[in-house]
Amino acid sequence: MTIKEVQHPLVKHKLGLLRKADLPVYEFRRLSNEVASMLVFEACADMPLLNTHVEGWQGEPVEVQTLQERDPTLVPILRAGMGMLDGCLQVLPTATISVVGLYRDEKTLEPVAYFDKIIAHVAERTAIVIDPMLATAGTAIATIDLLKQKGCKNIKALFLVASPEGIAKMQAAHPDVCCWVASIDDCLNEKGYILPGLGDAGDKIFGTV
Ligand code: PRP
Ligand code: URA
Repeated sequence: MTIKEVQHPLVKHKLGLLRKADLPVYEFRRLSNEVASMLVFEACADMPLLNTHVEGWQGEPVEVQTLQERDPTLVPILRAGMGMLDGCLQVLPTATISVVGLYRDEKTLEPVAYFDKIIAHVAERTAIVIDPMLATAGTAIATIDLLKQKGCKNIKALFLVASPEGIAKMQAAHPDVCCWVASIDDCLNEKGYILPGLGDAGDKIFGTV
């Protein structure tokens, strides 16, 4: 697995704002989506292009480049991944959406799956998994396991914040998957929360604290 920590100053600035404890829900949502837009922009930098022609404004053919592959499918992990979906769709408005529902058991920290709706023919597309947090990595690994069972070969993943422990587990489980993150943080605490982290991203996005 390749991990890419995006160094753009706007990403760092917005992530810094997201770390404020007393941030209102609407600001947390807005900033999560803004950072997600920039992560997906970076993650699409290697998309192959095709040379083609369009009729230009003078009625003459003009050589242009278009994306070669079918639209990617975005894979938000419920719930918190929904907080990055709009931002990704700003950059990829024609992407399809495949939803996966998993939550992390508070005691065991193991992922519990409760829903999935993956688009048909997912094997023919790039899948971009979105979730604010890569903590123990159990949730992301289970999601990627599911996508691979459905035949998906080209998988990318975006996280606002990742822990070194989660990155190591992801590397061992899915060495072929490339991840983009706004920050690699310090460590996990005894409850599996990322430090300094963002706290409970799902609660902050859904206002359920
Ligand atoms: C959070 C987060 C990830 C998961 C990360 O979701 O959004 O999905 O935990 O933890 P892990 O890397 O240790 O698996 P949570 O389980 O809190 O569910 P929610 O999104 O429904 O709030
Ligand atoms: N889930 C979160 O929402 N935050 C963490 O720090 C870890 C898991």
